[in-house]
Amino acid sequence: MPNQRNLVSNTMLFIFIFLQGLYSMTVGQTWTFPDKIEALKGSCVVIPCSFTRTRSSMSDDVVWYLYSRTYYIEVFNSRGNSETISAYRGRTSLVSAETMSCSLRINNVRGGDDAYYYPGIDTNSNAYEKYGNAVRLGLREKPHDPVIQWSGGMIEGQQITITCKVEHTCWSNPPTIEWNKRGQHGRTYQSNFAGGGWKSVSELIYTPSSSDHNSLIMCSATHHNRIISLNSTRLNIKCTYYTRN
Ligand SMILES: *[C@@H]1O[C@H](CO)[C@@H](O)[C@H](O)[C@H]1NC(C)=O
Repeated sequence: MPNQRNLVSNTMLFIFIFLQGLYSMTVGQTWTFPDKIEALKGSCVVIPCSFTRTRSSMSDDVVWYLYSRTYYIEVFNSRGNSETISAYRGRTSLVSAETMSCSLRINNVRGGDDAYYYPGIDTNSNAYEKYGNAVRLGLREKPHDPVIQWSGGMIEGQQITITCKVEHTCWSNPPTIEWNKRGQHGRTYQSNFAGGGWKSVSELIYTPSSSDHNSLIMCSATHHNRIISLNSTRLNIKCTYYTRN
């Protein structure tokens, strides 16, 4: 039985390699990007994208198109913006200077930007033409509320780490996260793209005090273009003299 399974998976592997080979002969270039992403109105959005090139002579140029049934509508072109439609000109750029990146940033996201987009080199070689792939950009009117969390109970004098997680849409310009309580600031980090967006996390190393009992802890996130979201929760701090009694 295990041998048979191996045989099957080897055959699959062979087919996979074979198909990949075929791919590269006919296609020359592949693009990787999500099928959907959320963008915050008024802020910016970064669509993560990378490409592979199988022949050294292939172009490094990146063009992003707005999907349309009948036309090729350019929203970004690394060769120059003369063909870029005016609604996007000056608002689009590639975010990474790394080679093989085609991550697109759209600034000042506005109504009408909700559409399908796809990258490529030109009208003959692009993700839609070759694979029928495009990313759906959806609009959010308001940012997500931050989520404040910690584990365990709060005891007076016992240091605890409180996290504030903020979902956002613009990897190149993550939100600034602020707390209303004093404490030591731990890490602030960004998680990878997942579920249509990114997450920024701030850690606050906090020492509960009896005077903070029942007070609000607040976390605010200032997104690109000064759009603010916040959330708060009440602190329930166990005073040490209670535990002694
Ligand atoms: C913050 O907001 C979300 C919903 O908007 C909510 O689910 C969450 O529990 C709130 N509170 C904290 C403390 O994060």
